[in-house]
Amino acid sequence: MKRRIGILISGRGSNMEALIRAAAEPEAPFEIALVLANNPEAGGLEKARAAGLRAESVDHRPFKGDREAHERALDAKLREAGAEILAFAGYMRLLTPWFVEAWPDAILNIHPALLPSFKGLHTHERALEAGVLWHGCTVHLVRPAMDEGPILGQAAVPALPGDTAESLGARVLAQEHRLYPEVLRRFASGRLSVQGERVLGEPVVLRADLAES
Ligand code: GRF
Repeated sequence: MKRRIGILISGRGSNMEALIRAAAEPEAPFEIALVLANNPEAGGLEKARAAGLRAESVDHRPFKGDREAHERALDAKLREAGAEILAFAGYMRLLTPWFVEAWPDAILNIHPALLPSFKGLHTHERALEAGVLWHGCTVHLVRPAMDEGPILGQAAVPALPGDTAESLGARVLAQEHRLYPEVLRRFASGRLSVQGERVLGEPVVLRADLAES
């Protein structure tokens, strides 16, 4: 039986598209149950619908800062669609502990940096400012604290002389699109799991060589 995935987005949804492509492979251990956005204008919604998927939004604005009430509305849609694993893909709102605890060890997130470095926003600018030679992206299980949780996979890319946040970000994004599907394949099939905060099985390790970039 394929595991049913709920994807949460806020924007253009390029990681979502990578997961949709991966789900279309015959051997994929997962299928997309629902794509949900917190704003009706998220460009990814149309792309998901064009792929024949159910894609809906629950606008956070009418909830006027009541984060948990907004999340309860998201939760109801995800349960109704039969989602078992949630893949956050550029979802730009912080989660309450209530939501995280309602989906124990079942929420994955992709972050555009090599955690635990550069949590939060503007990761590519900050990595360049810090003078790192390697940067990258991380897929991790979500815990109540932002950008924390067991690391399920990472992809490293070189930071090159002359890089801008845009050029470095594009190099990272290309790896995000490789990393997230592979982590989800392993996680959904049980080849990758956690016990408490310990990762069991085969985390995904990718590296873009200098020659590739
Ligand atoms: C990605 O860089 C992701 O790592 C970050 O937000 C961005 C979303 O891009 N969390 P997209 O919507 O998947 O194209």
